Amino acid sequence: MNNSPIGLFDSGIGGLSVFSQLYKLLPNENYIYFGDTLNLPYGNKTIDELVKITTSIFDFFQYKNVKAVVMACNTTSALTYNILKTKYNFKIFPIVQTVSKQIALQGYKNIGVFATNATINSHAYKKEINSYNPKINVYEIACPNWVNIVENELQQTNDSILDVKNHLNEMLSHSPNKIILGCTHYPYLLKVLSSFAPENLFINPAEYFANDIAENLKSNNMLAEAKQFEPKFYVSSNPKQFMSASKLFFNVQNAEKIQLSDLLVK
Ligand code: DGL
Repeated sequence: MNNSPIGLFDSGIGGLSVFSQLYKLLPNENYIYFGDTLNLPYGNKTIDELVKITTSIFDFFQYKNVKAVVMACNTTSALTYNILKTKYNFKIFPIVQTVSKQIALQGYKNIGVFATNATINSHAYKKEINSYNPKINVYEIACPNWVNIVENELQQTNDSILDVKNHLNEMLSHSPNKIILGCTHYPYLLKVLSSFAPENLFINPAEYFANDIAENLKSNNMLAEAKQFEPKFYVSSNPKQFMSASKLFFNVQNAEKIQLSDLLVK
């Protein structure tokens, strides 16, 4: 069982920001990554659509006999984790819940969250953080264009820079001590964000999340004894664009297109 793979998924390249951290910490694990590029952006989908999508992906990972699934996607962690968490035999790691706990315990007074429409409308970060410390002020702002900017490698266009600047200015008016990049695609915008504000204002949750996953697998004696294959990458459409846009966090050399039939909820 320990040599069974770890599955990770996201709507596209965003989850690679998590995968790259985890791979650094646990290079001997067997990894399967699924980027659901056909259905992105998840942030504009309904909860029913997201449950259907997550179920198909979990079924795929079950078929692949994984020991654990990393929800390297804030949107599905926020909206579908609680609904599906008891329905599968593998361990499930959700990013929002894991990271909120760690950040809530650090003593910040004002925390900003940038995330997708669906994550912001669920108030998952606010609810989770305030469940550990109700005194923390949590300011949530949706950035609906940022996933498409990142997937299409448009970070340096004037329109993208203006969009980032406008959202950041709105957030800065609340004087946050830290701003959580609450969508795994957003760390791909760190260079633009940090041209307007100090880089250490931003929290890329991938590091916290990967540390927590590694600790958890270690303490439960679930680490692989032997590496059986190099990381495998699957996408539901356009593998070329996925490989091209992946570069910043993990240079994916080979991605295979697969169709999970009932993923098609568009
Ligand atoms: N990267 C995912 C997240 O963390 C999904 C973004 C999207 O497809 O809208 O929320």
